Amino acid sequence: MWEDVPAGDLALRIRRPPSAEDLLDEEEFADDERLPYWAEVWPSGRVLCGVLAEMDLSGHNVIEIGGGIGTGAMVAAMRGARALNTDWYAAAVEFSRWNARNLRLDMDAQVMDWRDPPAQVLARGPYDLVVGADILYEARNGEALGLLVPALCEPSTEVIIADPRRPDARAFVDGMQAAGWAYRREDLPVPGRIDETGAIVHVHRFRPPARKHNEPVVI
Ligand SMILES: C[S@@+](CC[C@H](N)C(=O)[O-])C[C@H]1O[C@@H](n2cnc3c(N)ncnc32)[C@H](O)[C@@H]1O
Repeated sequence: MWEDVPAGDLALRIRRPPSAEDLLDEEEFADDERLPYWAEVWPSGRVLCGVLAEMDLSGHNVIEIGGGIGTGAMVAAMRGARALNTDWYAAAVEFSRWNARNLRLDMDAQVMDWRDPPAQVLARGPYDLVVGADILYEARNGEALGLLVPALCEPSTEVIIADPRRPDARAFVDGMQAAGWAYRREDLPVPGRIDETGAIVHVHRFRPPARKHNEPVVI
């Protein structure tokens, strides 16, 4: 199906599977508790698109983590970035590449499990901007991201994570602050359809501590 994703004054029309539920795979779930959340654009994903649409990202090296279809990376590319979307589902990466080509964007996509980042994703960094939306929905996610995110950063990197106030996000935010990362939060309204997570999304913004920007953070 086609979906129009709100992103400020940009026209972002993507193609995605009609239903995440149809993609459920019992074997995959049994193996690693994987669920095909990638097939939707979540409320936080829409908020992230709005935030990025307001930014001038000319010449920036941007990575989206857990991007699913990668709408955040697409908006970053539309705003002038060299953008990379990543997700652990190969099917998400295929959809992402297809959409980027269809929109004629300077955006690539790579398979990446946060717990085992491929060398070419690390080698493409450090990134000027690391973004993600609704990726802190389980405790194990925050733990993996505390180790991954610093590996993608240099001292001037900004990290923006949009989150629909998931209970497990708290530990990540607290852990990053305890490790010396500068932090601020914006609370933004969800454009379009609102689900059970509510009408407000937290946009967490982090900057690495000087000299310790690459140090893993234990969440
Ligand atoms: C709730 S969805 C959000 C998708 C998209 N960011 C959005 O907001 O529309 C969470 C995403 O994180 C990805 N994900 C979860 N665990 C992951 C892991 N360990 N490594 C990489 N991606 C992961 C999922 O495949 C999914 O695309």
